[in-house]
Amino acid sequence: MATWSAPGKVILFGEHSVVYGKPAIAMAIKPRVQVTVRHSRYYQKPNSPYISECFRLTDVKGSVYVRSQLPSASGLGSSAAVTVATLFAINDEFELGYTREEVGDLAFEVEKATQGGRASATDTYVSTFGGLVFIRGSEKRRLLPPQNLSIVIGNSLISHNTAEMVEKVAELRRTSPVIANGIMDAIGGVTMEAMHNLENPKELGVLMNRNHALLDALGVGHPVLSQLVLAARNAGAYGAKLSGAGGGGCIWALCSKGSRNRVAGAIEDCDARPITTSIDTEGARRE
Ligand code: PMV
Repeated sequence: MATWSAPGKVILFGEHSVVYGKPAIAMAIKPRVQVTVRHSRYYQKPNSPYISECFRLTDVKGSVYVRSQLPSASGLGSSAAVTVATLFAINDEFELGYTREEVGDLAFEVEKATQGGRASATDTYVSTFGGLVFIRGSEKRRLLPPQNLSIVIGNSLISHNTAEMVEKVAELRRTSPVIANGIMDAIGGVTMEAMHNLENPKELGVLMNRNHALLDALGVGHPVLSQLVLAARNAGAYGAKLSGAGGGGCIWALCSKGSRNRVAGAIEDCDARPITTSIDTEGARRE
């Protein structure tokens, strides 16, 4: 029997424009997913298509038990975390001998196969290696020095569809390329500035607010996400923005230690679910 866990993720800056070669910054976060795999002759078909694909790809048979505190379909990378933890547990239980990099690559293959080819390697990379990650185009993803950011996530509880939102941006690019490309250039600029201000929460907050406004201009906002970012800022956050594909899902707010509880309360007052968290520097690990 082998039990492995893997962290979720939040995209800090640069979602959507990253699809068109601009930079993005993502971070592994604390709610983790735990998966136990046991060698078994009696293969029990898993409920999750991601887990089925993990077994199909590695050509082994076993039983699986999943424990997760990460909400699904909210942009916090739960499918990637389940996939990564399952593959590491399979690798361990069946002594397949894959390296961490190789398991990360396999996890990306599983995500692609399960999502009909539409997946970015961001989620599986962050879940495999943990920490703070810089992503740009086809450039290799790289780990940045970890930062002790105190964050509150606000889950709008409105489920979103990443493929639909990516298509919406593609449509804007077709109909109004000058506007769409201008907004994406600006998001790229904001992300690069954020890269150089990771230790400066006040400036980072201003950049978050700008990034959020640009995402709204791109058409991936939602009235509830706007309500949540305003509530978080009014409650004392340095800044707040949507995270991930938008149209629902989550926002994240950067807070001082002193304002965290107030921000979490303000999110609750909007009938959304707060998650107070910080960086998880550990990627997939054996439990
Ligand atoms: O909502 P999520 O976590 O699936 O994030 C999607 C991020 C996008 O930039 C919109 C798409 C991508 O593949 O990078």
